[in-house]
Amino acid sequence: MTALIVVGAQWGDEGKGKVVDLLAQRADWVVRYQGGNNAGHTLVVYGQKRVLHLLPSGILHAHVTCGIGPGVVLDPEVLLAELQTLAESGIEVAPERLRVAHNVPILLPFHREIDRLREARMGDGKIGTTGKGIGPCYEDAVGRRAIVARDLLDENRLRAALERIAPDIQGLLQALGGQPADFAELTARYAALGQRIAPYLDDVGARVDEALRQGKRVLLEGAQGTLLDVRHGTYPFVTSSHTLAGGACTGLGIGPTRIGRVVGVVKAYATRVGSGPFPTELHDDIGQRLRDLGQEYGSTTGRPRRCGWLDLFALQHAVRLNGLTGIFLNKIDILTGLDQIAVCTGYEVDGQAVRDFPGHATDLARVQPVYEWLPGWHSDLTGARSREDLPAPAWAYVERIERYLGVHVDVISVGPDRAESVILRETWPI
Ligand code: GDP
Ligand code: IMO
Ligand code: MG
Repeated sequence: MTALIVVGAQWGDEGKGKVVDLLAQRADWVVRYQGGNNAGHTLVVYGQKRVLHLLPSGILHAHVTCGIGPGVVLDPEVLLAELQTLAESGIEVAPERLRVAHNVPILLPFHREIDRLREARMGDGKIGTTGKGIGPCYEDAVGRRAIVARDLLDENRLRAALERIAPDIQGLLQALGGQPADFAELTARYAALGQRIAPYLDDVGARVDEALRQGKRVLLEGAQGTLLDVRHGTYPFVTSSHTLAGGACTGLGIGPTRIGRVVGVVKAYATRVGSGPFPTELHDDIGQRLRDLGQEYGSTTGRPRRCGWLDLFALQHAVRLNGLTGIFLNKIDILTGLDQIAVCTGYEVDGQAVRDFPGHATDLARVQPVYEWLPGWHSDLTGARSREDLPAPAWAYVERIERYLGVHVDVISVGPDRAESVILRETWPI
């Protein structure tokens, strides 16, 4: 069996949590491979809403084993708190059902502090990060300074690892005007946390590879979105990991030949949180309407999300970057009630058509979107369960997306609940 990757095709918050929860009904494994608790994935089951930040979105299914790969950055306190919250609502996750990479970089309090100090210093030029310390933790990982999960299991090993990086960290904190970190306190506190996460630690890539060889269904759950990828997104207004499907292989330690399908989650309009260019952003009543009806407020930070029209030109870039084999089109119900709906079919700069998606924020900020207008619809879509239940203009909207991108829509989501879905074709690799 080959694995199925689910990635965000825009700027995050496309509804990956709902999609993964839905697909997990038939999964054996659901595994996160990048990002950290900057993610906020919402699941609604029988009207009950939950937001997961670190735990994979398959966790509500008792038959699913979940994994956190070494490409993630792990805040152990957040992980334990999420497990605690689930336990309080009656969902006990036994260690056999949650495998965490023994070599996952550990996110420490000074990462959050560095994140905060850097953003404050940048003023108006700030990235608008989630403030969770994600960037600084990844910097330490590529800078060969990271503390990894296994280091926490032995207090002497942890002390030595922290002593090795202390001069760098203290120097940086001082340069940014922060307070020095208390490394003795960190050693004791994280050694204690190490004992608590010890039962979950494993070689996650090896377990996933074994599962695939045994014919199990494995879903690899992306966080953030394509346009936030550290190399291919709207740099520098991006996150610090590879959010693309390619990141699943390096973020887990499995080969590209183990991947069977890549599904892109697309919101039926566009949103973005944080700073950075957004060509189809709406600053008018329609933008506010999308924010209100779509409840577009960050699942992690509560910040209002910027809203705009669907950007097919950017999505075409996402199709290429991820090699998408299918699309989940979410939140089409939120477009109900508009007389006309625009989709962006290209960019222009100084009246000239742009050939490729500009890979840098400074260049993207200069483009003018070219719009095509499609008829809207006025009937409520949330009860739709098959193609025939959709009004003709809604179906025409779906078909326009398919035709432009050359990729099939597998599922149309018409509401936040797991059940509120129109399933058009099979998503799992055969
Ligand atoms: P994620 O980060 O990609 O998992 O997305 P978020 O959970 O941050 O944001 C998506 C929001 O849209 C959540 O509040 C979901 O419950 C909600 N949602 C997902 N699909 C639909 C849909 O088809 N219709 C509506 N109305 N809401 C949806
Ligand atoms: P999910 O998985 C939307 C954005 C932040 C900021 C930039 C960098 O829920 O889709 P970071 O804290 O990662 O250094 O912030 O990335 N960002 C997200 N936007 N959804 C997310 O996750 C995001 N995770 C990070 O707003 O612009
Ligand atoms: Mg989210």
